[in-house]
Amino acid sequence: MTREYDIIVIGSGIAGLMYALKMGRNYRIAIITKKSSNDASTNYAQGGIASVMSQTDSFANHIRDTLEAGCGLCHEEVVRKVVRLGPRYIKELAGFGVAFSRRSGAYDLGREGGHSHNRVVHSADHTGRNIEQALLNSLKKHRNVDLFEEHTAIDLITEYHLGQKIPRRGPTCFGVYVYDNVNRRVEVFGARLVLLASGGAGQVYQHTTNPAIATGDGMAMGYRAGAFVANLEFVQFHPTSLYAPGQDPFLISEAVRGEGGKLITADGRRFMDNYHPMAELAPRDIVARAIDMVLKETGAPCVYLDISHRGKTFIKRRFPTIMKKCESLGINPAVDPIPVVPAAHYFCGGVRTDINGCSSIAGLLAAGEVACTGMHGANRLASNSLLEAVAFADFAANWTRKNLQTRAKYKGPALPPWDESGVFDHKEWVVVSHDFQEIRKLMWDYVGIVRSTDRLRKAYDRCLVIRKHIKEFYRKNPVRPEVLELRNIADVALIIIRSALLRQESRGLHYNIDFPQRDDSRFSRDTIIQRDFN
Ligand code: FAD
Ligand code: SIN
Repeated sequence: MTREYDIIVIGSGIAGLMYALKMGRNYRIAIITKKSSNDASTNYAQGGIASVMSQTDSFANHIRDTLEAGCGLCHEEVVRKVVRLGPRYIKELAGFGVAFSRRSGAYDLGREGGHSHNRVVHSADHTGRNIEQALLNSLKKHRNVDLFEEHTAIDLITEYHLGQKIPRRGPTCFGVYVYDNVNRRVEVFGARLVLLASGGAGQVYQHTTNPAIATGDGMAMGYRAGAFVANLEFVQFHPTSLYAPGQDPFLISEAVRGEGGKLITADGRRFMDNYHPMAELAPRDIVARAIDMVLKETGAPCVYLDISHRGKTFIKRRFPTIMKKCESLGINPAVDPIPVVPAAHYFCGGVRTDINGCSSIAGLLAAGEVACTGMHGANRLASNSLLEAVAFADFAANWTRKNLQTRAKYKGPALPPWDESGVFDHKEWVVVSHDFQEIRKLMWDYVGIVRSTDRLRKAYDRCLVIRKHIKEFYRKNPVRPEVLELRNIADVALIIIRSALLRQESRGLHYNIDFPQRDDSRFSRDTIIQRDFN
């Protein structure tokens, strides 16, 4: 049986929820999400949302800071449009019930790396949690939206699944194969339009700030279906994730540096002054690379972030989540410097879209971290991600309302059921976790903050072998979420490495010691990759 909707949204983070809310009540919408509804990177966002909210700031400043961080690859018309709409989106989020922190009546504006002015609107240090909760609460009033928790999207359905040739003008998306994690069966969802809002891919790396859901599923599904994917070499490593071996990932927000936190070595030496005039508040790529260098020079497992001068009362009020986490590990930030290391944090690349959120596949839109919209270029400015996600959810909703009739009958082809022929359980599931760990370690060691062509090639060769093995395993075994995620991280890892090999220069988040300079004559453009169906 095929479940039929006007629109399928894959993901219940800020992008998917905002889009569904903006679509109003005239379309039948299914939101598919692979765990519980709030299990999303959005829920963990700390610093906040960048937007021009004070008289001393200006759109021109925010645009300039974004373009400078993006190192020549931002699409300026996108940046201009998104930045100018920022204050409107903050108002809308507040209208949905997000309680942002205020001081003397006005928004309390935080500062983060690469920003020339204080402009980060936040809810203490749990901005994402407040946003996710407020949007989910608002959505409860929308009876036209069905929310499917514990449902994992497997693949986008195109001509390929209908046994047809992909037309020259490119594929069309007719729906999604979805695994019901609870009832352990594959369902067919048909729709006239699909929005990918499945977030990022931090789990491709051994060390990440991202939650377990971030396995790059949307990027991999988009690629497999034939969409253009762009700029996946630009992986942002957050300079300061908590160094606590054996613990779940935990971020120490850049806003801590915005409030005067200093980076020091174990013997108390400050080092960021040696790397950039903005010191601790330099753009993220520079701070992450500087820490990487210090760690390599000293052999130490971590550096430290010292905010002790702000005192307990301030730290507890401004960073309650960070304070609580540190205290639970016996670290008192009012006295002790916090141990930190860089970790994979954000993907500037993804499924390529135009300014309406349309991908290169008919019937497929993308918004949020899964997408490459042109906003971030080669390096995202801090706290521009939630802003971009809200903006593109809005642009995609506007486009949908103009181009998709309400509740029209589904006129697509009959969608074939999931094919399980040739499948048997040969009980070697242990290889799934081995392959998962191997890819993540390989990516961390060979495709990390500082790269070389030789290491990239070695990583590519090994990943290809693992990917072949996974493909075989996938073909012969029943579907399970862990093998779906493994297949996705393998696909994304290969695209990252291919993109990194193509960019024979260093720019923004991509640093290759064999090509240490930026080369505008050859590489002042996006890296675009598409699956070859031949
Ligand atoms: P997500 O919020 O990650 O949501 C993705 C959704 O898709 C989830 O519901 C997931 O379960 C679902 N999904 C994924 N794959 C599938 C599948 N196969 N089938 C079904 N469902 C699927 N950015 C800022 O601008 N400011 C910040 O302060 C900030 N702080 C951050 C702190 C942390 C710790 C992290 C990890 C990120 C932070 N970021 C921040 C980045 C920002 O939070 C994310 O880029 C943004 O939330 C992404 O939103 P999204 O809706 O695209 O994806
Ligand atoms: C942070 O709070 O440091 C994260 C901000 C971001 O990723 O934009």
